[in-house]
Amino acid sequence: MDRIASSFARRNCAAMLTAFLLSAPVAVRAQATQYPDVPPLLLGAAWYPEQWDEATWEKDLTSMEQDHVHLARIAEFAWSTMEPSEGNFQFKWLDDAIAMAAKHHVVIVLGTPTAAPPAWLTTKYPETLRVDNDGKRDEHGNRQQFSFASTKYRFFAHRISEEMAKRYGHNPNVVGWQLDNELSSTSFDPEAKAQFHAWLKAKYGTIDKLNTLWTTSYWSQTYDNFDEIPVHDKDENPALLLDWRHFVSDTWKSYCENEISAIRPYADKRQFITTNTMGWFDGFDAYTVHSVLDIAAWDDYVPTVTFDPASNGAEHDLTRSYKNKNFWVMETEPAFVNWRPNNNAIHKGQMREMAWQAIGHGADAVEYWQWRAALNGQEQYHGTLVGVDGEPVPAYDEAKQIGEEFEKAGAALSGTTPQASVAVMESFDSRWAIDFQRFNNAFDPIAEMVDFYRPLRAAAQAIDIVPPSADITKYKLVLAPALNVLSGADAERLIAYVRQGGHLILGPRSAMKNEYDATWTQRQPGPLVDLLGGRVEEKYALANDAPVSGLVGSGSAKIWAELLEAKSGDTKTLLTYGPSSGEHGNGWLDGKPAMITRTVGKGVITYVGFWPDEKLLADMAGAWVEEAGVTPLVAGVPAGVEVCERTGQGKTVLILINHNTTAQSVHLPAGMKTLIGQGGPDVTLAAYGVAVLER
Ligand code: GAL
Repeated sequence: MDRIASSFARRNCAAMLTAFLLSAPVAVRAQATQYPDVPPLLLGAAWYPEQWDEATWEKDLTSMEQDHVHLARIAEFAWSTMEPSEGNFQFKWLDDAIAMAAKHHVVIVLGTPTAAPPAWLTTKYPETLRVDNDGKRDEHGNRQQFSFASTKYRFFAHRISEEMAKRYGHNPNVVGWQLDNELSSTSFDPEAKAQFHAWLKAKYGTIDKLNTLWTTSYWSQTYDNFDEIPVHDKDENPALLLDWRHFVSDTWKSYCENEISAIRPYADKRQFITTNTMGWFDGFDAYTVHSVLDIAAWDDYVPTVTFDPASNGAEHDLTRSYKNKNFWVMETEPAFVNWRPNNNAIHKGQMREMAWQAIGHGADAVEYWQWRAALNGQEQYHGTLVGVDGEPVPAYDEAKQIGEEFEKAGAALSGTTPQASVAVMESFDSRWAIDFQRFNNAFDPIAEMVDFYRPLRAAAQAIDIVPPSADITKYKLVLAPALNVLSGADAERLIAYVRQGGHLILGPRSAMKNEYDATWTQRQPGPLVDLLGGRVEEKYALANDAPVSGLVGSGSAKIWAELLEAKSGDTKTLLTYGPSSGEHGNGWLDGKPAMITRTVGKGVITYVGFWPDEKLLADMAGAWVEEAGVTPLVAGVPAGVEVCERTGQGKTVLILINHNTTAQSVHLPAGMKTLIGQGGPDVTLAAYGVAVLER
């Protein structure tokens, strides 16, 4: 496994709030596939017929059909079986596997096999192998050893994709395509470097313009021509590093376009084309890459010892935002993985908890990786649904239950999607810019975003994650936890949003840089200073937590604190720092503003200069949601019970997920029909329990 990526305010109203019952049906198409006879919610598994004989296929597919697994993703690592020598294509086995799957009503997503080139290719064309940041060329072995920029590699990637498309583009049992697998590794080979230089030239036109925008007079970096520019992804000018990431994003986009151009001409329009991304992984800007894909899909694995529902839910919301519509979970774990330091299993019941959380956040398919382990290879220890003997392992029954439930609730959920009136705004540029210069190593931009997301999700019960370029006019509240990079054009949109009555909350480090990663000449929040009527006077990396208190509560600032100042008479201070104490206290902050706000017509702009502790942040989030007039879908829900809602085609479906280790109960409005789970209007949820109800 080569994953690179490794996070209440509750109003205790007695009466049930039913704003969700009034929400309008949406026009968004939301269904697992575009084929009418395929179930609207799909349970699937990654399946590797190239590793087994036909008798084994028959056993696998018989079990799948019987136990509600109606989808298999195949072939994404089968290049050496499909093209055993250059130009020698062998598809008979794949024809047979797809036909046998069809007989068992298992639809197929076909993977292009380009994440694992065959040995003949890299041996004969070693220039297709990637080169790392230190100049070392990869050797054949493992996977992802190719250069994403190599013209030669793209030739072979195009050809195998085209051969597959010619054969399966109109196969009614093939519902979609996955390009490559978990795009991630970059390359610093001579061809990639030359392409970066050409890319810079196309972006800046003249070297003088680049010199100015990058401030290359610093450390004698002035360039006479584009070819002199170093190509690295660390220890360079932040402007260069940011452009390298933009180049990487464009290169992965064109890498996808290369395969799309091979597939699309031969494929039924109903076959979607996607790739499987990795949640928080930020090696490229996923919005750029998704601009050429039909749907978004991600691989949902638990990266730590314990499942964190807030972080995982935010990853679902992020993936949904790439295409602004329902997405797929292309891979998830059957209880455990093999690539963590300790591959402890999630608790019994948590596969189901995770599957329904995915659906609640807008997934239309959930696929386990994998059905059956290979007899050999690097992943012999990974979780599966059946053993190498093809007989169920303990995780099997839970997957089977999920499949049964998808079938029960599928009709109600078909054509539905989540709707939110609160948005969390974040960008790859901001994450990257912070990562280039964290200033306090503990400032992990993702952890900080999840900390803000967590109480906000609990209070509002529905969140969209949006990039700064999104149309935000429909949101009552927009929170940007650390929007470090903000272009002038995006700032204008935020200003208009507030002037038109929106509630905008900016977190620490916001609006420090422009789109070239150059510091705005105004202090933070740069182009928003006038609107806020205040600014950041100075930033401090904290060694110890700093106390904060004021109108919205009291608590502490951790990791980061900005000393703010209200410059305009109508800008109010809501929280103040201090008093500091102890050896590592920060006396500079004492008595100074930590959070300021200004009302502009019906709109509000608020700047939070620090990373708040969990309790204070929960109080703040509750207040923001209430002030913006956002009502939760269901009031009075116990902590750790997640509420999700999908609406569309005149339907409203509520999904309740208990992330606690103990049973909980939720009181719902009358008139809900229970599809999955027990009870209603008083619903009891066992530990990790789920209820799905339709209005
Ligand atoms: C994914 C990868 C799969 C498999 C899985 C194991 O990252 O796409 O091929 O390796 O991890 O968890």
